[in-house]
Amino acid sequence: MFIESFKVESPNVKYTETEIQSVYNYETTELVHENKNGTYQWVVKPKTVKYEFKTNTHVPKLGVMLVGWGGNNGSTLTGGVIANREGISWATKDKIQQANYFGSLTQASAIRVGSFQGEEIYAPFKSLLPMVNPEDVVFGGWDISNMNLADAMGRAKVFDIDLQKQLRPYMESMVPLPGIYDPDFIAANQGDRANNVIKGTKKEQVQQIIKDIKEFKESTKVDKVVVLWTANTERYSNIVVGLNDTMENLFASLDRNEAEISPSTLYAIACVLENVPFINGSPQNTFVPGLIDLAIKRNSLIGGDDFKSGQTKMKSVLVDFLVGAGIKPTSIVSYNHLGNNDGMNLSAPQTFRSKEISKSNVVDDMVNSNAILYEPGEHPDHVVVIKYVPYVGDSKRAMDEYTSEIFMGGKNTIVLHNTCEDSLLAAPIILDLVLLAELSTRIQFKSENEDKFHSFHPVATILSYLTKAPLVPPGTPVVNALSKQRAMLENIMRACVGLAPENNMILEYK
Ligand code: NAI
Repeated sequence: MFIESFKVESPNVKYTETEIQSVYNYETTELVHENKNGTYQWVVKPKTVKYEFKTNTHVPKLGVMLVGWGGNNGSTLTGGVIANREGISWATKDKIQQANYFGSLTQASAIRVGSFQGEEIYAPFKSLLPMVNPEDVVFGGWDISNMNLADAMGRAKVFDIDLQKQLRPYMESMVPLPGIYDPDFIAANQGDRANNVIKGTKKEQVQQIIKDIKEFKESTKVDKVVVLWTANTERYSNIVVGLNDTMENLFASLDRNEAEISPSTLYAIACVLENVPFINGSPQNTFVPGLIDLAIKRNSLIGGDDFKSGQTKMKSVLVDFLVGAGIKPTSIVSYNHLGNNDGMNLSAPQTFRSKEISKSNVVDDMVNSNAILYEPGEHPDHVVVIKYVPYVGDSKRAMDEYTSEIFMGGKNTIVLHNTCEDSLLAAPIILDLVLLAELSTRIQFKSENEDKFHSFHPVATILSYLTKAPLVPPGTPVVNALSKQRAMLENIMRACVGLAPENNMILEYK
C-alpha cells in the first residue's frame, strides 16, 4: 500500500512551528586491536552515540542557476519541469504521454515506512522531510552560447517534436547570461559555440558571476540560490604548490590572473564567496585543494563530481552484487558511443582523460572490501572507452563486459548493452542534487560530545548517490556502492524525523 504522507509520533521527536527536532541513538561500533597474552586480536565493541537533529521546515523559494544552461541537460531539465508544472501531455507514436519525474530519487522513488495489517506500507521519498517542490523552482544560468532555451531544446534533439512545440512559448524568452570561456580548458571543437562570453581578467569574471547571482536573486525574488555546473567537461587543472593548493594561494593566483585557474573553479569561487551551494556535475577537478580550503573556511556547500547517470550507476550496483556474492570480477571493459555535443567535447584527449579518471575509481571500495577474493593491491582490469558517433545523438550506447572468476576456476562473462537518451537520465539527477543540497543546508545536528549544533561538513558527501566520483573531505572514506549511498541518504533523513534506519529484518514476521 502507498500513503502520501505521515507524521512521526515519538518522545524523541518534536514538531515546532519552524523545526522538526529529533533525538537519535546512533548505533555504531568501536574497533580495538588488543594485545591479549602476547597475541593481538580485533575486538568490536558496539556503542551508542546520542545525536540531536533539527530541520528548519520553512521551504524557501529556490532559484537554480545552471552553468551550461543551454546545453542538452540544461534545456531538458528546464523543459521537463515546465511540462510537469503545466501538466503538458503530448502525442508520441505509441500513446499520449504525460509529463513525469521518472528517474528522480526525490520525486519518483519510495521508502518503506512500516507494515500495517500484514502489508508493507510505502510513502514517497520526498515525504520524509519538507522539500522544495520542483515546480516552484526558478531556473536561470549561464552559457557561452547565446541561444535561447527554446532553440537550445531544438538543438538538443531530446524531446519529441510535439512536446517541443508546446514548450516553445515558455522557453523562448529564457536566454542564458554570458559565461566564462577559456578555450584552453574545453575541446577546441567548442569554439564555434562561444558567442556569449564574459570579458576581463579572471578576478573580474568572478566579480561578474557574483553580480549575476545577486541580480538573479533580486529580479526573481527567490530566497536561496543553488548553482550547478552542467557545462562541458574541462581538462584537469594542474595542482601546483603555491598556485592552487591553499585558499591564500588561490586568491593570490586570481590576483595575478594565473592561466591555470579553470572557468569551473572561477564559478565555484564566486559561489563560495556568496555562500551559494555549488555542485559540479562534470568530472574535472574544479575543487582544487585551495577551493576546498576556501569552502571549509567559509562553511559553504560544495558537492560533486560528475553525475552518476548510466554506465557507472550500473557498475556500482553490479560489482557490489558480484563482490558481495563472493564472485571475483577480474575484467571490466566499458565502451560508450555518444553523439551529442558532450560526446564531441569528450573526443579531445584531455577532456576524455577527465572522464576516464572519474569513471575509473568506482569499484575501488568494493574490491578493497573483500580480501578473500583480492590480494592486497590487486585490482580488476578496468578499461573505459568513449567514442564520438554523431548519428546516435543524445541516445547514448553504453556497452559493458564483466568477466569474473567463479567457483573452482570457472569464468563468467556478463555483457550489458544500454541505449537511451543521456540527458533524460541526467536531468532528474540534477533536480535531486539541487533539491537535496538545499535541504541539507536546513539541517543542523550535534552529537552528545558536542556543545553546539552545526551543519553538515561543507563537502557534501550526502549527495554521493548522485555522483560518479563523490567528493569527500580529506581523510574520509569514499563509498561508491549505490545501495550503501542510497541507504546513507535515506537513513540520515529518517534520523531527522526520529526513525531508525531501515534494517530490512522484518522480525515481526519471522
Ligand atoms: P552539452 O554540450 O549539451 O551542454 C553543455 C553546455 O555548456 C553547452 O551549451 C555549452 O555551450 C556550455 N558551456 C561550455 N562551457 C561553458 C562555460 N565555461 N560556461 C558556461 N557555459 C558553458 O552537454 P550535456 O549533454 O548537457 O552535458 C553537460 C555535462 O554533464 C558534460 O560535462 C557531461 O560530461 C556531464 N555529464 C552528463 C551526463 C549525462 O548526460 N547523462 C552524465 C554525467 C555527466
